[in-house]
This record gives sequence, C-alpha cells and structure tokens, in this order.
Amino acid sequence: MSSLSRRRFLEQSMFTTAAALAIQAQRAQATEPVQQPPSIGPNDTIQVAVIGAGGRGQSHIDGFAGKSGSVVTHICDCDERAGQRSCDKAAEKQGGKKPVWVKDVRKLLEDKSINAVSIATPNHWHSLGAIWAIQAGKDVYVEKPVSHNVLEGRRVVQAARKHQRMVQTGTQSRSNPGMREAMEFVHSGGIGDVLISRGLCYKRRNSIGPKGTYDVPKEVDYDLWSGPARILPMTRKNFHYDWHWQWEYGNGDLGNQGIHQMDLCRWALGEDRLSERVLSFGGRLGYEDAGETANTQVVVHDYGKRKLIFEVRGLPTPDYKGANVGIIVEGTKGYLVMTSYASGTAFDLDGKPIKQFTGGGDDRHYKNFTDAMRNRDYRTLNADIEQGHLSSALCHLGNISLRLGNQIPGAEVAGAIASQGGGDSVVETWKRTAEHLGENSIKDYSIWMGRSLALDPIAETFVGNDAPNHWLTREYRAPYSLPSEQAV
Ligand SMILES: NC(=O)c1ccc[n+]([C@@H]2O[C@H](COP(=O)([O-])OP(=O)(O)OC[C@H]3O[C@@H](n4cnc5c(N)ncnc54)[C@H](O)[C@@H]3O)[C@@H](O)[C@H]2O)c1
Repeated sequence: MSSLSRRRFLEQSMFTTAAALAIQAQRAQATEPVQQPPSIGPNDTIQVAVIGAGGRGQSHIDGFAGKSGSVVTHICDCDERAGQRSCDKAAEKQGGKKPVWVKDVRKLLEDKSINAVSIATPNHWHSLGAIWAIQAGKDVYVEKPVSHNVLEGRRVVQAARKHQRMVQTGTQSRSNPGMREAMEFVHSGGIGDVLISRGLCYKRRNSIGPKGTYDVPKEVDYDLWSGPARILPMTRKNFHYDWHWQWEYGNGDLGNQGIHQMDLCRWALGEDRLSERVLSFGGRLGYEDAGETANTQVVVHDYGKRKLIFEVRGLPTPDYKGANVGIIVEGTKGYLVMTSYASGTAFDLDGKPIKQFTGGGDDRHYKNFTDAMRNRDYRTLNADIEQGHLSSALCHLGNISLRLGNQIPGAEVAGAIASQGGGDSVVETWKRTAEHLGENSIKDYSIWMGRSLALDPIAETFVGNDAPNHWLTREYRAPYSLPSEQAV
C-alpha cells in the first residue's frame, strides 16, 4: 500500500468509526422512553405554518386547515404569487381565517405562536428547513425525500432527538391501514422468508423541453428559492416542479415518486439500516432536454443474502405482475403485490390469491402527526424522521452509484452486471429493462453503468479504497449552511 493510500485508508477508518459510534450512541438513546409533558393541551388548537405552497403545499393546507384541531396561520413561500393565492384558498377552507403570507422562512420561524411547520418546498430545502424549524422549537412535517443528500438527512434526525421535536416524514402510505396490515402479514411470515423486495416506479415522464436560457418568474426571490444550492442560470422552461430532474435541486424519479416505494421495500424487509452495497445503472433515454436525471434506472441494494431491487421507467411501459407504481415482495412461500399506497394482494407460489389488503387516505397521516404533537412520544409517529432518512438515503445512494459510473453500450450491460457480482435477479431485471427500451424503439444506446459501492450501513459511509464519501453531502452556499452535528 502506498503511503498516500495508507493515509487515506486510515483517515477513512477513523471517519467511519467516529460516524458509527455517534449514530450508535444516538440510536441507543433513542430506545429510552421519550415521553415529555405535552406542551399543547388536548383542547388547544395547533397553529401550523405551511412552507412551500406549490402543488403539494395545497395538500398540506387541506390536511391542516380546520382538521385534527389545527389551523393554518401562516403560509411561507418565496414566490409571492403562490403564497398569496394559497392564503386566499386556505381562508375558504377554514371558515374565513386567512393565514399570513411570509416570504422568508427565517422570519417565519421567529414567530413564537407557530407550533408546527409543514414543509413542501423543493428537495434541496427539506433538511435545512426542518433543522432550522426544530431549532426554533417547532414540530415538523417534512415532505419526502427528507433530504437532498445522505448526511443532511441524518442531521435532521440528530436535531429532532436533541431538541425533542416530533418530525413526521411525508410518506403517507405508512398511515394506511391496508399497507400496515400487508406489512404485518409479511413480517409475520405470511409469504415465508423474504428474498427480494422490488420497487416499481413505472410513471410516464415526458421531456421537460430544451435546455435554454429562461427567466426566473419576477414574483420569485431566487436567492431564497436556491437556498443551499448554487445560484445558477435558469435552464428549464417550467420554473416550478421540473427542478426534480436537475441534480442541483432534485433527485430524479427515485427521489420524487420512487421514494414512496423505496420506503415500502425497506419496510417489507424489516431493515432499519442502510444496505451493505449499492449498484445502479440506467440513463436518460428517448429524448434530450433540460433534464439531467435518469428516466430509466435500476438500483440494487444488498442486505446480506436479501436484495432490494428498484426500477424506474419514465417511458411508456406495461405493468409488471399487475403493478406499475408499487412493490412486489418475493418470499419463499409466496409473494405480495401492492399496487397502490393502500391496497394489494398476497399470492401463494402458484399465483393463487391468499389475502387482500385495502384502506387508506392522506388525512390519517396528518392526524397521526398532530396526535404525536399532543402525546409527545415520537415512537407513535407512523413515519418518524429516522425512517424517512433511511429510505431517502437509499435513493441518494442509488444516484451516487449511477453518477460515478461509465457510459457503456447497452449490449455490454449484462456482462458488466455479472462482473460486478450482480447475480441472476439483477441480470434478469436488466433484460426486462432492455426489452422495454426495445419496445420504445430505442436502439444503439449507451447506459451509465454505475460503480458498485460497499457501505458501512450503520456509520452511513462508503468503505474501501477511494470511498467517495464527499458524495454523501454537498457544498452549501452561505448563509444556507448545514450546521455541524455539535451545532445542530
Ligand atoms: N407525499 C407526496 O405524496 C408528495 C406529492 C407531491 C410532492 N411531494 C413533495 O413535495 C415537495 C414539493 O413538491 P411540489 O410538486 O409542490 O413542488 P413545486 O415546485 O410545485 O412547489 C414548491 C414550492 O415551494 C416554494 N419554495 C421554494 N423554496 C422555498 C423557500 N425557501 N421557502 C418557502 N417556499 C419555497 C416554491 O416557490 C414553490 O411554490 C417535493 O419535495 C415533493 O417531493 C410529495
């Protein structure tokens, strides 16, 4: 070993050990009873501020406006038009009580009357917004993915525990009775031992238009919108929503739709940790546009002998085993297909249905949050931030593997998977993906063949020589900096 690689190895080991000890200590603490005296009485109205009043922000307003003993008192959006419009809509929903619009989240958090914030901004703001709110003494409902990178997600968990705040992740499937029953069925051996947990995000995604130079809408404070990200020229046509497909702000469909199913896949496996190895491959195929993220992607997480295999397809595709946006959990005695956030069927190995699951509705998830706000026990949250962080991190790790890869011809992918130790189930998943590309008349294409990366699932770092740990975080643009673990 050269002295440079020896030094890197030692630095890496020290980093990994320190990180593992810190996370283990935090988890040990987390198993202690955490009941605190309620700060909100059973009959007190919970005052909620919604941060980010775009598409999803409207559902947050719906979820809290006059429901579960809560009222929306503030709406924070750095787009004045979105903020003002949403205040009017909220007033209609809560008997004329019109929330106050606030442009800057820092100003909002100074208001002591606010008990909880509900964050539906773009992904690159989730963790920082949540940490600032926690530090300001608010409970937090934060949309999925809870982070834009692995490290900041863990930091939110640390902040939540330190300041004893309730932090719910916006993975609403976790509150659906149908989904909860299905998971209990799997965990109690209903389909035998789980071997593979498959996630499907087959969702049509069209081109977002050519990369160009576009104006930021005049109502938007672009410095605030960009936050921890760099201030870049606008290269996409639609200012809102389409940031999902640019790495600076979004995490592709893994972090958009896919995180819901990634979370369910991990839940089905019963794993409360990251995986031991990740590999991803795919590409943005079928069109060239301002988007950068993959519209066709496979991610494989190894949990010892069990695998989590995730597929993203943005081009037209038929269902797989009756599902398109869902999960398929394969066991030694049968398999479970969940075709929505709440319903699905378990089958035996001959394909005969053995049990059906149904029942859901988003309001349950908001109510579970407000209930926890009153009882002050984070273990009663159906999607506590620890769970949100782990599942979000699995998405980020897939993207890191992909982005560290090389472009190779489609014809060489099966061989490359085998040489990386991918195994038959992964080669089979690729073969179906290749057929799907053929059905979309995509020929002579290249695939980003990602790097197979070993992980310490507890320390939440990559391990080995040249472990790309700097990919676990980002450069933050001051003053929108991520606090250190000590300062969180
Ligand atoms: N749980 C679900 O089922 C679900 C569904 C849809 C979206 N989402 C999540 O919700 C989030 C928002 O998605 P969307 O489709 O509404 O996006 P969007 O782009 O339509 O809306 C985001 C809003 O946040 C505002 N914003 C940006 N930075 C802000 C800041 N610093 N302070 C205040 N406001 C700020 C924007 O101006 C915009 O109005 C995403 O992270 C997405 O993953 C979750």
